[in-house]
Amino acid sequence: MATPRVPLPLLPPHTPGRAAVTCEYRCGDACFHDVPNTSGNAYLGDVIGEMISRRTALRAGAVVALAVGAGGGAAAAEERSAPRGLNFPPVAPNTLDAVVVPEGYEQAVVIRWGDPIFPGAPEFDFDQQTAQAQERQFGYNCDFAALLPLDHLGLTNLLVTNHEYTSETFMFRGYDAANPTEEQVRVAWAAHGLSVVRVARDRSTGALKPGFSRYNRRITARTPFEVRGPAAGSDLLRTTADPTGRRVLGTLNNCAGGVTPWGTILSGEENFNQYFANAETRADPRLTRYGVVGGATTRRWERFDDRFDLAKEPNEVNRFGWVVEIDPTDPGSTPVKHTALGRFKHECANVRIAADGRVVAYSGDDERFEYLYKFVSNGRVRPGDSRAAKRHNSALLDDGTLYVARFTGDSPPAEIDGSGTLPSDGAFDGSGEWIPLTSGTTSYVPGMTVEEVCVFTRLAADTVHATTMDRPEDVQAHPRTGKVYCALSNNVDRGKPGKEGATEPNPRVNNRHGQVLELTERRDDPLATAFSWNLFLVCGDPESPDTYFAGFPKDQVSPISSPDNVAFDSSGNLWISTDSANALGINDGLYAVPVEGPSRGRLTLFLTVPRGAETCGPVITDRVVTVCVQHPGEVDGASADAPASHWPDGGASQPRPSVVAVWKPGRRQPGEIGG
Ligand code: FEO
Ligand code: CA
Repeated sequence: MATPRVPLPLLPPHTPGRAAVTCEYRCGDACFHDVPNTSGNAYLGDVIGEMISRRTALRAGAVVALAVGAGGGAAAAEERSAPRGLNFPPVAPNTLDAVVVPEGYEQAVVIRWGDPIFPGAPEFDFDQQTAQAQERQFGYNCDFAALLPLDHLGLTNLLVTNHEYTSETFMFRGYDAANPTEEQVRVAWAAHGLSVVRVARDRSTGALKPGFSRYNRRITARTPFEVRGPAAGSDLLRTTADPTGRRVLGTLNNCAGGVTPWGTILSGEENFNQYFANAETRADPRLTRYGVVGGATTRRWERFDDRFDLAKEPNEVNRFGWVVEIDPTDPGSTPVKHTALGRFKHECANVRIAADGRVVAYSGDDERFEYLYKFVSNGRVRPGDSRAAKRHNSALLDDGTLYVARFTGDSPPAEIDGSGTLPSDGAFDGSGEWIPLTSGTTSYVPGMTVEEVCVFTRLAADTVHATTMDRPEDVQAHPRTGKVYCALSNNVDRGKPGKEGATEPNPRVNNRHGQVLELTERRDDPLATAFSWNLFLVCGDPESPDTYFAGFPKDQVSPISSPDNVAFDSSGNLWISTDSANALGINDGLYAVPVEGPSRGRLTLFLTVPRGAETCGPVITDRVVTVCVQHPGEVDGASADAPASHWPDGGASQPRPSVVAVWKPGRRQPGEIGG
């Protein structure tokens, strides 16, 4: 049966993209500052002229007109049966203050911000929050999540969750942003980091229930981390509190992540720049390159801990922006910051193993005009998840080659006109190469030592002329084909005066909706330094001519904007969660799309999250799908005194970031998700 076109709802005018309040708390208003990359790294394309801007404006008008009607030019599309694993009716895009799942599916909250995760921890009390309580409760703004089975039936699991950032306006009634109290700041420190919680699947209902266990753990902005890899002990990482440069308190802004084959969790420290004040006292262009701006920080942490004041501790900022690793099965273990994977605004790190046993990790630097990276270990993986194997395999991430990607399009630059119109060869595609930055004790970057390449990776990538991308987010290799998928969220600055214009991998100026890149390494070998690539999806309203869904009939797909996290199900379908779908006037959601076969590109909306929320950290198993509902109610003008969402508890309650499980009751069909 064909998937019916699901038109966008008719909506009043809206502000495109993310709420300003989310920008402030999540990214430190990154979009309101100039892009940190002024390296001039460019591509074949040129800044697009007025002609294209006019054409784009005309098309925007056409979208509004077309979105009202159903059907469209692709009505002659052939009927196609639902691909394996995706036999669910699409959810209609909406703006409801609810999690919406397909008909026939059930859902329940697994755990909410503030829920106790240790025996004796206090119940959540919104009006009586303390740091001591928060350290023993589920943290704020869950983002990445992993479900690690503790038994072969998946009945008991460890739920590992990042807590990316705090939104104090929504956490405290009467919050005075210019003068937070010390206790409020300490609550925020405790609400950052990660949680490990045992969850059990109720066999009769399918729900996931949290419980206390010896594994439960909170990692916060003050948990000790060990620094490893080439920059460990570097002068660049030494501070008053840590003259060794090897021991850091805490992890910050943990966005997405990955599960390693040896059973640990990798987590990306993303917008760390926003936590450090008074950069102007240092006049260091390397700070500017990372978006560290002068003056006070949004949260004013520098008033309560000198390490957040660059005037007092110039190197503390260099101790964030890493991929961190934790072992959720060993609550006493010291988590690690891996400097060999480079320092930037890591969205994630996802690992695969090459045929010869070497470990390969992909990571995107999530900012406008930043780069895509790959790390290849020098050593080879040891099978199993014993303590010894974990120790050995974790150390592989401390010694290897760090690469950055350079993309070349195969179409004439004149055909990449910024409008999103496909070039005459029918595809945004081409070739590319991974350019080495460091390997072991060798730096390939003129004028930079290995330590400097690791700590100031963005500058190293500038030097070798990597390709600037439209916010590289989650990156993951397909478990069977080995093709690598990267979500590129959006980039409204592309083509602006003084900024780089359209390029074949980033083919739209004023890119509000993003694209999904498919990268095929030569001979499907993750050790290869050459690859081909194509844009699998060019996101937006399918009715708009600037969108592309791998050639699938556009009257049979769901609208999507700002792809962020990616995951695969057991049938090999790609699942994509979104951040800032309100650029289309709809709530964020979770989508599924086949990447192979006749239904390649058939994108279907599976779930939407409540008003103001973002869909994060999808975990797709055959029995249950989980998502993190981050920042519900985070819309401009709202606050704890005037909440815009009452999800999940309803009534007049405050919104609480939470993890949600979705499943299909009854007998499961083979390959059916959540059945
Ligand atoms: Fe935390 Fe890249 O979003
Ligand atoms: Ca092409």
